[in-house]
Amino acid sequence: MELCTFFLFMDNVLRLPLTDSTNEDAYKLALKGAEHGFGVIADSQRAGKGRLGKDWESPAGTGLYCSIIIRPKLSFVDFPKITLTAGLALCRAVENLQVDSSFGLKWPNDLYCNQKKCGGILVESSSVSCLEKDSFVIVGIGLNVNTKLDQFQLELQQKATSLLIISGEFYDLRDLYRRVHGSLLEHIHTHETKGFSCIRKEWSKRDVLFGKEMQWLTAKKTVVTARGLGIDENGQLLAKDRYGKIHAILSGDVHLAI
Ligand code: BTN
Repeated sequence: MELCTFFLFMDNVLRLPLTDSTNEDAYKLALKGAEHGFGVIADSQRAGKGRLGKDWESPAGTGLYCSIIIRPKLSFVDFPKITLTAGLALCRAVENLQVDSSFGLKWPNDLYCNQKKCGGILVESSSVSCLEKDSFVIVGIGLNVNTKLDQFQLELQQKATSLLIISGEFYDLRDLYRRVHGSLLEHIHTHETKGFSCIRKEWSKRDVLFGKEMQWLTAKKTVVTARGLGIDENGQLLAKDRYGKIHAILSGDVHLAI
């Protein structure tokens, strides 16, 4: 990324035709002092990052790839919950498109529709050595927008969807960015001023794992099967196994049991 100050302070956003990862660009800009709400958008990414070290395929013209700098008025311990706040913000932004299908959230922050993934969020925080007043999080958002089914890689065709597949309509990526950006700042403000309980209440209405049998791998590499009970006040996913034991999951990947 070439840092161009002309672009930097126009419209609070840096638009790039191609970059490695908008999350990395936004992180560097945040370290240089870029303000709360500043965003980086790319038409495509060479090395888009997903959660848990996965790649995020980012072909030009089909998806929204953006990262927004958030300087939360929250303490460090509350930062992990921002992931859920961002997921809700993305979900609300697409709901407002008035598409005739309902969207849901798969913990911690995947956007789902018709049992398929339509988007995801990667939140990265400033290092703990950063002074609290300078701390930030980068909210990276990948949304499948104008992707046709055969444009997904073969192994994703059963698991992924896009706004185009859902609604049959093409969307303007700039307009979508404005909607997602506005929604994110609004939900962060709600989180800061009214507390996470407000976010949790709305998030829970969209929880696609609630009441479902699901599985995950523990740190000791054992597979646990349990039924989703929703999220707690810390943003952890709760699940009850067949022995009645309640598990609280703070990170990792969970799947619906098959
Ligand atoms: C996931 O579901 O695993 C999270 C995907 C996040 C992808 C977005 S695309 C824009 C931003 N830049 C990145 O490198 N990743 C995020």
